[in-house]
Amino acid sequence: MQFTRPRGTRDFLADEMERRRIAESRMRRVFENFGYREIATPAFEHLELFAERSGEEIIKELYAFKDKGNRDIVLRPELTAPVMRFYVSDMQRLPKPLKLYYFGNCFRYEEPQSGRYREFWQFGCELIGTDKPEGEAEVIALAMEAVRAAGSKNLELCISHLGILRKLFDDAEISAEDQRNLMRLIDKMEKVGEEPIRIELEKYGKEFADKILELISLSGGIEVLEKAKEISGADEVIERLREISKFLEMYGIKCVFDFSVARGLDYYTGMVFEIYNDLLGAENQVCGGGTYALAELFGGQSVSSTGFAIGFDRVMVALEKEKALPELKKDLIFVIPVDERHRYKALEITARLRTAGVRSDVDLMCRGLKSLKHADAVGATRSIIVGGEIENGKVVVRDMKTGEQKQIDENKIVEFISGACGRQEEYA
Ligand code: HAM
Repeated sequence: MQFTRPRGTRDFLADEMERRRIAESRMRRVFENFGYREIATPAFEHLELFAERSGEEIIKELYAFKDKGNRDIVLRPELTAPVMRFYVSDMQRLPKPLKLYYFGNCFRYEEPQSGRYREFWQFGCELIGTDKPEGEAEVIALAMEAVRAAGSKNLELCISHLGILRKLFDDAEISAEDQRNLMRLIDKMEKVGEEPIRIELEKYGKEFADKILELISLSGGIEVLEKAKEISGADEVIERLREISKFLEMYGIKCVFDFSVARGLDYYTGMVFEIYNDLLGAENQVCGGGTYALAELFGGQSVSSTGFAIGFDRVMVALEKEKALPELKKDLIFVIPVDERHRYKALEITARLRTAGVRSDVDLMCRGLKSLKHADAVGATRSIIVGGEIENGKVVVRDMKTGEQKQIDENKIVEFISGACGRQEEYA
């Protein structure tokens, strides 16, 4: 009987996995350079952690089950709630601001399509303990730089602040529950269109609906802020956005103010942002984040936090579309004993190469020179043939691309190969 993998999951072949690792390590370096430190949390959590504040959308998509002890368990759909749970239990006393990052798999029971999976990977950060605009700008800059470091260029950054819509909703005395529903609907505007939003908004009057629709259709550079101010009267919040964009300029980052960015998760309270890559089609959002309040809800002291998560798989799809996938340039040396008598020497040479950090393989089937074909098939860049020449202390090194062969002193082989391979991009 043959088995298939569960819907919405993927297997990764070695080349693809290597490309993912290279992109991962390039992105990881950016997080580290910004002074963030990696943490990890479990792949499954108690159901209540997400039921509390993540929002209806996420709850619908949870992979939830009872474990053998009859506990309600979920596979994590995201990492902000787990990180804040961990922060409240173990990190509240650490010096602030606390800079954390993570890379891990997440699970959402969604309709699979290109760029949308049931198991996917998120690269994210949480900056905990500062409420300053330079903190928010740093988080946005980190997101942009990390995606760029992976090799993606076709990016658009959109920023908003939930305080603007909230002010207008509060002015209209809309209940917290109804506000949340409206935010979710606005978050989906690109997919559902304006009409369902208008219908909901008109319940609070035509003038109100027109005002909100005018606001959420505003999109552009610094010039749209004045208009947003006029419509909303949310002067302080607009000033905040202006400050954030000034800091972003220092990072060389341009943003679009787009007041339809509302975010699908319920825990956001302030600045929100999304990064898109329009080459991705329907699932074009490569990153989402913002400022939120969760610590208090989880029994901790109230603390200002800002973070984001990058959809790592979407970044990889984008790299493919942009023809910017990392090249696989690692050398591989294949050591070939010409017959059974030379097996021990071949193994000894292989061991020396490996100790020196050179990626090396050896013919384990004693196929003699026939294994040159195999060496080629597994992508060896050079082969070392161990045969009769060893009597004179020599081995034959064959360049697998050109076919050129050279005799090299056996005791200088590690030096020769290391020199010939040059420096390789490190990733782990
Ligand atoms: P999110 O917008 O739900 O935010 O997810 C972040 C990113 O994960 C999305 O922009 C998208 O690229 C990727 N993503 C989401 N669902 C899928 C899927 N089914 N398949 C592939 N990629 C997907 C969060 O998760 C928040 N925790 C971000 C955050 C951190 N906010 C503050 N701190």
